[in-house]
Amino acid sequence: MAVVVSSRLHSYVCCLLFIIISQASAQPSFLNHFCLSDEGSFTANSTYHTNLNTLLSNLTSNTQIDYGFYNLSYGENSDKVYAIGVCRGDVKPDECRSCINNSTVLLTQICPNQKEAIG
Ligand SMILES: *[C@@H]1O[C@H](CO)[C@@H](O)[C@H](O)[C@H]1NC(C)=O
Ligand SMILES: *[C@@H]1O[C@H](CO)[C@@H](O)[C@H](O)[C@H]1NC(C)=O
Ligand SMILES: *[C@@H]1O[C@H](CO)[C@@H](O)[C@H](O)[C@H]1NC(C)=O
Ligand SMILES: *[C@@H]1O[C@H](CO)[C@@H](O)[C@H](O)[C@H]1NC(C)=O
Ligand SMILES: *[C@@H]1O[C@H](CO)[C@@H](O)[C@H](O)[C@H]1NC(C)=O
Repeated sequence: MAVVVSSRLHSYVCCLLFIIISQASAQPSFLNHFCLSDEGSFTANSTYHTNLNTLLSNLTSNTQIDYGFYNLSYGENSDKVYAIGVCRGDVKPDECRSCINNSTVLLTQICPNQKEAIG
């Protein structure tokens, strides 16, 4: 019994340390991410890809939205792309923008050609 408790305590401490270390490191990351293949994938340099890059650059350059909810779309028909960004209610607008910006960079690295991705 004592062994079980102490081994649990040990792994709990390890976990805490790991979280603290990963938060202190410079490169932010997602707690969770999903690259979904249900909607298929797109090819590099296609119209879809160009639309996606336009949309993401608009998303990160948007300074009008200051309430932490972003819902943009761009393009026509099957090349239309959508982006939704949400920040927790107590996050300041510039912090939210920075986080959204970082997320678009990270998410397109993790999910390079999936049509649906969540981070
Ligand atoms: C897409 O365009 C970039 C830059 O123009 C180029 O380096 C890359 O080879 C192209 N990729 C494909 C698959 O055509
Ligand atoms: C986001 O915008 C699209 C239209 O571009 C709309 O259909 C959709 O309902 C909106 N979603 C939310 C959660 O507001
Ligand atoms: C993206 O930004 C450009 C330049 O500000 C603007 O012309 C274009 O309409 C914007 N597109 C979207 C989808 O917001
Ligand atoms: C965005 O990334 C930069 C550089 O990695 C980092 O300094 C900044 O804290 C990040 N912003 C957020 C909101 O995580
Ligand atoms: C978004 O992040 C990239 C790379 O981290 C940085 O170069 C760029 O200046 C940032 N853009 C904004 C609007 O913060």
